[in-house]
Amino acid sequence: MKIDIILTAADIQPEKIKDKIVVIIDVLRATSVMITALANGAKTVYPYKDIESVLENSKKSKSFVLGGERKGLKIEGFDFGNSPLEYTKEAVSGKDMFMTTSNGTRAIENSANGSKKLFIAAFLNVESVAKKILEENDDTVIICSGTDNNFSLDDALCAGEIIRRVKEKDRDIQLTDISLAMKRLAETSLGIEETLKGSKHFEYLKTIGFYGDMNHCFTMDMFDIVPEYKNGVITK
Ligand code: MLT
Repeated sequence: MKIDIILTAADIQPEKIKDKIVVIIDVLRATSVMITALANGAKTVYPYKDIESVLENSKKSKSFVLGGERKGLKIEGFDFGNSPLEYTKEAVSGKDMFMTTSNGTRAIENSANGSKKLFIAAFLNVESVAKKILEENDDTVIICSGTDNNFSLDDALCAGEIIRRVKEKDRDIQLTDISLAMKRLAETSLGIEETLKGSKHFEYLKTIGFYGDMNHCFTMDMFDIVPEYKNGVITK
């Protein structure tokens, strides 16, 4: 079994993920939101690349919320933005959630075809994801969604932390050089926030008033669920 990493949503190529176990990460903040909403009782999360698909497909549900962002901010007419703190039990329990974000939902849609299984990860569920990878015991590709087609340090650090934990449990797992590099990054990290200081999306979210999201997104193992995307929908 081998673990590889794809560093941005733009780098997803069909042959790299064909028949592989795929793990998608968008720490800030799409996958953190999905995990939080499902842990708080949302029935489903339907991720789409565009606003039109969200509006069209939500018509099929009787009880739903619309969530997501453009440039980090709530989309006009939607119920919620992309802060995980909005997705409380009161807000989402028993509901279908229809969502679009700039990078995370795009990475999911781009990986939908060809992968064997597709799981959703963030710091919030790293340990459960590491165990799931070992349980599946098959070649795995971790996809860092990145930001606007660029490398994003928050996703890379999270990928490294997952790999660090997998390797800790089974030393024989093979790593590509990118996987090894991210594992070393996680091993030498002085803490998530300290490592991410100065990184682009982390600093941007602070400037638009979302520093409060960081504490939540950077809490490791708050939840023990590993959401799976299958046939267009994510469930836990
Ligand atoms: C995304 O999918 O691009 C992000 O979740 C953006 C954000 O932080 O809201």
